[in-house]
Formats: sequence, C-alpha cells, structure tokens
Amino acid sequence: MSPASLNILLTGGSGYIGSHTAVVLQQAGHRVFIYDNFCNSDPAVGHTLQAITGHPFTVIEGDVRDTALLQQTLGENAIDAVIHFAGLKAVGESAIIPIDYYANNVQGTISLLQAMQAASHQPKTLVFSSSATVYGDPQYLPIDESHPTAATNPYGRTKLHIEEILTDLSKADASWRIACLRYFNPVGAHPSGLIGENPNGLPNNLMPFVAQVAVGKLKELNVFGNDYETPDGTGVRDYIHVMDLAEGHLAAVSYLNDAVQAHQGMHTFNLGTGRGYSVMEMVQAFEAASGKSVPFHIAPRRAGDIASCYASTALATRELGWSAKRDLKDMCESSWRFQQHTNTGA
Ligand code: NAD
Ligand code: WQD
Repeated sequence: MSPASLNILLTGGSGYIGSHTAVVLQQAGHRVFIYDNFCNSDPAVGHTLQAITGHPFTVIEGDVRDTALLQQTLGENAIDAVIHFAGLKAVGESAIIPIDYYANNVQGTISLLQAMQAASHQPKTLVFSSSATVYGDPQYLPIDESHPTAATNPYGRTKLHIEEILTDLSKADASWRIACLRYFNPVGAHPSGLIGENPNGLPNNLMPFVAQVAVGKLKELNVFGNDYETPDGTGVRDYIHVMDLAEGHLAAVSYLNDAVQAHQGMHTFNLGTGRGYSVMEMVQAFEAASGKSVPFHIAPRRAGDIASCYASTALATRELGWSAKRDLKDMCESSWRFQQHTNTGA
C-alpha cells in the first residue's frame, strides 16, 4: 500500500533527473521541496514546473554542504523523506578536479545525513542517486545488483564511498530506510518539452550531443570506436527514459514507506530497461524521430569506455513493482522536442 501524501525534499531537484522526479511526485500527491545551489541548473525551474503541473513548488537556494541550512529546511517544512540528487557528475572532469567531486558528493552526503539526524523530527527515509558506473567493466551481462563493484574513475568512487557510508549507517541504526538507485543511462525529456537535459558547454553524453547535431548547433558526432565486440562494433548501453526513472523514484519512496510492510535498512536497485542499444542504433532512432540527419564520423575509442552495459531489472520489478515502460522512439522524440524548445523557445 502506498503512503499518504509526504513532504519530500529533493536535493539537486532543479537538475535534469530531479526536475522530472519533482513533476511525478507532485502529480502523485506528494509535496515537493527543491533544494539546490544551481551550480548546474536554472533557478527558474520552479516556474517551469508550475507551468507543467499547475502547482507552485518551493525552491530553496542552498548547498548540501551547508548543514545548518539543511537542518533548518528539514525542520521548517516537516520533511518526511529526502531524495538526494545533488552532486557533480562528469566522469572526465572528476579526474581533473577530484577533490571538488569528493567535497560535493561525499562531504555533501555526510552533511545531509548530519542534518537529518540533527533535525528535531529526525526524518530517516532517504533515496540516493547512485550509478551503474559503480560496476566498472562488466564481468557478466545483464548486470544484477550482486555484480562486483569496481569504479574506474573518481566520480564513480564518490558513488561507491557514499554507498558504503549509507550501508554503515543502516547497520548502525536499523530505523533508517534507504534506497540506493543505480541508474543506467538516463535520456529523453518530459512530454511537454519544457524540461530536459541541457548541459553547459560541449555535451559529454551521447544523447544531448546527437540532439545538438540534429538541431544544427554542432557539426557532427564523434562515434567513439566501431571495433568493440558488439553487433555493429559501437558501444551498447541501457538507455532509460527519464520519466521512467522519475517513476522509479516514486516507487522507491512508496516502497520505503509502505504502510503494510515498511522496508527498513538499505536497499539497492538497478534502474534500467534491461536492453541495450548501440551508438549507431541511437543515431538512427534519433534521425527517424527528428526527421533530421545526424552526420557522424568514426573516432578512436574514448578512454575508460566499455563495450556493453545493460541491467538486470528483475529486482526492481519484483520489489518495487516498477519497470520501464517507454521505448526508444519516445526517448528520442521527447529529447528532440526539448532540444527544439531550448533552441527556439517554441
Ligand atoms: P544535474 O547536474 O542535472 O543535477 C544535479 C543538481 O545538483 C544540479 O541542479 C546542481 O545544481 C545540483 N548540485 C550540485 N552540487 C550541489 C551542491 N553541493 N549543493 C546543492 N546542489 C548541488 O544531474 P542529473 O543528471 O540530474 O543527476 C542527478 C544525480 O544522478 C547525480 O547525483 C548524478 O551523479 C546521478 N546520476 C546521473 C546520471 C546521468 O547520466 N544523468 C547517471 C547516473 C547517476
Ligand atoms: C554512451 C555511448 C560512448 C558520446 C556516462 C557515465 C555514467 C553515467 C551515464 C553518471 C558510449 C558513446 C558518447 C559521444 C559517442 N553517468 N559516445 N560519442 O559513458 O555509458 O555513461 O553517463 O553516473 O557514469 O560514464 O554514457 O552517453 O557518455 O556514452 O560515441 O560524443 O555513446 O562511447 O558507447 P556512458 P555516454
């Protein structure tokens, strides 16, 4: 049974995944509070979310390392649960400024946990944004949650450190209810086209890069390697629609607060679709969805990339009663709608 309406704080809630989750939670009857320092997002997100849902959102400007402000925010808004999206996420950048990554991600999480413990009503329900990057180079496919972890870059190691901290916390105090969600490759946008992924500078990830080529902002896509052991030689990933991912967070909050059987302790779930698409399949699907051509050339492999990666979704299906519903066409069409809106404001 799902819980009644909860007050849910979304750290990093104005970012790509957080903003979509805010819409889904609000439309499911929860009250959403966004806490963000806007280092990678737009402070105007509250207005956009109101335009989508017809409801106002409370947006608080703050850094997750500001424990006092977090504690005050948790108390003033009687927060029942926190979804912790806030963090830095660029793999390449994490090797250049690792201390910033550890400070934002690991120290930021410790600060959040301290604030939750210090708040007078002590909310102990937490959903954490982890990543499939914690699996490193897959030893078998599909990857289930028991697959060994071995991050290969500082960003991934911040996620592993945080997972260990959360595991230790849940062992020390069994009243915590924690869901650690390992996302595969989030793509796509809200059907309105009003929110989506709009990276600063040159996109690191495939889908926003392809979208910017299709719209004419970038000249061509570099396909990083076509000699992998995959059906067409290009890298295979488990792309998941961000709206499906957002619904996965709703399912996780409901699971942790289930009125019949509350799920205490730490629970780790893959959020993916269970199937992989190659870079070339993504390019073709995007061309079909947009009606635009996506020029590309084959470039050398990108350092640190793996051939294939896709999730076993069995655990999330069984425990959360959640599975991804949207297909590749929807991922590309919604991404294209958002890209056009971003470029033209239409
Ligand atoms: P995003 O950058 O769009 O959103 C993160 C938000 O956190 C931004 O709004 C940013 O301003 C905010 N933020 C960063 N540091 C902060 C701080 N110290 N205090 C307060 N706010 C801060 O990223 P996203 O794609 O929405 O990712 C959300 C989470 O999911 C991240 O933790 C990321 O590591 C994780 N994740 C993302 C992906 C992906 O491919 N997008 C995949 C797996 C995991
Ligand atoms: C996908 C495929 C590339 C760009 C990253 C992070 C991971 C997670 C999700 C946060 C690969 C190819 C890409 C381009 C290309 N993020 N590609 N040309 O690397 O699977 O995962 O984002 O947790 O931690 O590592 O995603 O979108 O960068 O790449 O050919 O310009 O597209 O080689 O095969 P990745 P991606």
